[in-house]
Amino acid sequence: MQEKKSIHGSWASRWIFILAATGSAVGLGNIWKFPYITGENGGGAFVLVYLLCIALVGIPIMVGEVFIGRRARQSPVNALTDLAQESGQSKKWGLVGLMGMLAGVLIFSFYSIVAGWVLQYIFSTASGALNGISSEAAGALFEGLLADPTTLLMWHTVFTIMVLVVVSAGVNAGLERATRIMMPALFVLLLVLLGYAMSTDGFSAGWHFMFDFDVSKLSWDAVLVALGHSFFTLSLGMGSIMTYGSYMPKRASIGSTVLTIGILDTLVALVAGLAIFPIIFSNGMDPAAGPGLMFISLPVAFGQMAFGQLFGFLFFVLIGVAAWTSAISLMEPTVAFLVERVGMTRKKATLALGTVAWALGILCLGSFNFMSDFTLFGKNTFDFLDYLTANIMLPLGGIFVALFAGWVVKEKFAKDELSFKSEALFKVWKFIVKFIAPVAVTVVFILNL
Ligand code: PFF
Repeated sequence: MQEKKSIHGSWASRWIFILAATGSAVGLGNIWKFPYITGENGGGAFVLVYLLCIALVGIPIMVGEVFIGRRARQSPVNALTDLAQESGQSKKWGLVGLMGMLAGVLIFSFYSIVAGWVLQYIFSTASGALNGISSEAAGALFEGLLADPTTLLMWHTVFTIMVLVVVSAGVNAGLERATRIMMPALFVLLLVLLGYAMSTDGFSAGWHFMFDFDVSKLSWDAVLVALGHSFFTLSLGMGSIMTYGSYMPKRASIGSTVLTIGILDTLVALVAGLAIFPIIFSNGMDPAAGPGLMFISLPVAFGQMAFGQLFGFLFFVLIGVAAWTSAISLMEPTVAFLVERVGMTRKKATLALGTVAWALGILCLGSFNFMSDFTLFGKNTFDFLDYLTANIMLPLGGIFVALFAGWVVKEKFAKDELSFKSEALFKVWKFIVKFIAPVAVTVVFILNL
């Protein structure tokens, strides 16, 4: 059979795919969200559950997404529809892709606001405004930013445009080029920051906070947060990785590739935590401070260290880049769909989707100021969309992908595409996507009701 190709293009090599998918996975989820939810959920036990979720549920589902995408070479709705049909099953499976596209837009709307905070902090560090800042003053500065809708809107708009420029340029000239330059630099800077954190008095307190586990501190809600975050951080359950997989070279092995991505993503999250918590503890701050954690702790740390202004600036630049490469992957599945199904040009599709996501973002930024009284299920718009997507839509999307890979697609398709070295490995994977992943997610959902 002649090899199928995606009409959108394909990655130059297996390593480009790894970098692109890691670019999608490594983002605000690792550096901003993981430390603050770990802080809110008591530390070690939460980290342990998170690691288990990544290994037992996240990575096997990622294998499923990549193989579905690469086999079908289309955006998720079309990929799921076609593979279901080829396997003699209902076309309705395509609806899972539709839910994923919706999740992508909803995530983008709050992701872009946080990315906007990062852009603001790039300028604040560059100008020296944060030099020598106390933790009280850093807290007040962050509060001030949240209270100012005009500034938030400006940065949200700038970030949205940055994403649209790349997505509209396409897979090779846009996505591939954006990814391959900045990812290595991100790792280097994280290590530099870790080195700094290790030299502070709070390192041991930070280490114990993250790795000593006291299971009695764990609630079912915390388990759901850990599970949801494992999907969020690996960009699963909404079709980003499936779409990236549809551009993957045929010969590359899916198993080892996905494992590499999972390990890189986890390392970045752990390093981010190990960099941030020591700073929190050595300055007597509260680890449960919530979404502002990174924006308050890091300026204080950089404000005190030698060359802190430079490192602070570079660090926020790199968080911005990490957010950028992730946000691109939030848009790509829907843009690819609009091009395939509606026949739009990529530029028009990007602009249309970008406008919708941008408008929704305004509702999110309002949560901190002009719309702070408006709540849905007791949460402001920002928190509600974060909760709805990460804790409900992504795990749900993930279950469906697992069920699809385990029960719906013909086993022969999966075997051909995965070509695992050993039959036993295939069996283990199949068992996880058929039973373990769907059951685990369902149980956590039910216990949370
Ligand atoms: N994985 C990204 C992060 O950790 O920041 C966020 C994300 C990107 C989630 C793409 C979902 C997605 F499809």
